[in-house]
Amino acid sequence: MIKSRYFLTAMLLAILSLATTAQAKGDPKRGKALAYTCTGCHGIPFYMNAYPTYHVPRLGNQNAAYIVAALTEYKQAKRSHKTMQAQAWSLTKQDMEDIAAWISSLKGEVNKTERFPEETLAKGKKIVEAVCHGCHGLDGQGINETYPKLTGQFSDYMIKALQDYQSGERQNPIMASFAKPLSEEDIHSVAAYYASLKENALTDLHIK
Ligand code: HEC
Ligand code: HEC
Repeated sequence: MIKSRYFLTAMLLAILSLATTAQAKGDPKRGKALAYTCTGCHGIPFYMNAYPTYHVPRLGNQNAAYIVAALTEYKQAKRSHKTMQAQAWSLTKQDMEDIAAWISSLKGEVNKTERFPEETLAKGKKIVEAVCHGCHGLDGQGINETYPKLTGQFSDYMIKALQDYQSGERQNPIMASFAKPLSEEDIHSVAAYYASLKENALTDLHIK
């Protein structure tokens, strides 16, 4: 009896470890080739989205599983941005995983992060400590790779994203519930806080 229970535990562990290795299945080399067109926007430092005007998000060093989730949401029209819907439309799950493997491997080359008044940062930090840190961390790294890194992301992009969760332009039940109670001032403060962080920050897509 004890022996078979031991065996079952061992089997379970084996299956679990298989499941975790199966998560890291992207091929970064293929992903790099596929992501060539993406650098036309995400590879240009401080590139702007036209209407409305905000910075194209930094993707380099982003968490892999989150990239796949975000692309899937554009493909399924759960995020309303038309250009990104078109970009994601033709990508298969494997394409997304390969692209994510490449993007998440990018390090360094951190662009200048934004600067904000101390009191804005302090207000943002207070909200992050109370509400957001459980998933995004105080350091903005995300507690695991399914959560987006926010470290050094553009503040105007994060403001737009939070407003989109509030309005339903982005349909995500988790973030909708956390974004809804935030005032405009709260949104600006938390975005400033995460945008100001530098340690292991997000960066542009740089093809080398
Ligand atoms: C014409 C410019 C443009 C091109 C080309 C482009 N993107 Fe984007 N991308 C954007 C903009 C703007 C956003 C922000 C959209 C929004 O507000 O939801 C974005 C958002 C994203 C996001 C979500 C980021 C986050 O933090 O949630 C991912 C992932 C992404 N793009 C991946 C790609 C990939 C992969 C490609 C190439 C296949 C690509 N993009 C090509 C402009 C572009
Ligand atoms: C229970 C976990 C959880 C909590 C708490 C949480 N978030 Fe999120 N957050 C997520 C998830 C999951 C996503 C990705 C949603 C999606 O796919 O669009 C996300 C996405 C975001 C994004 C968009 C990132 C991008 O790159 O587009 C921002 C900005 C953000 N969260 C800020 C916050 C702030 C500020 C708080 C606190 C007020 C907060 N979050 C609290 C889980 C959480």
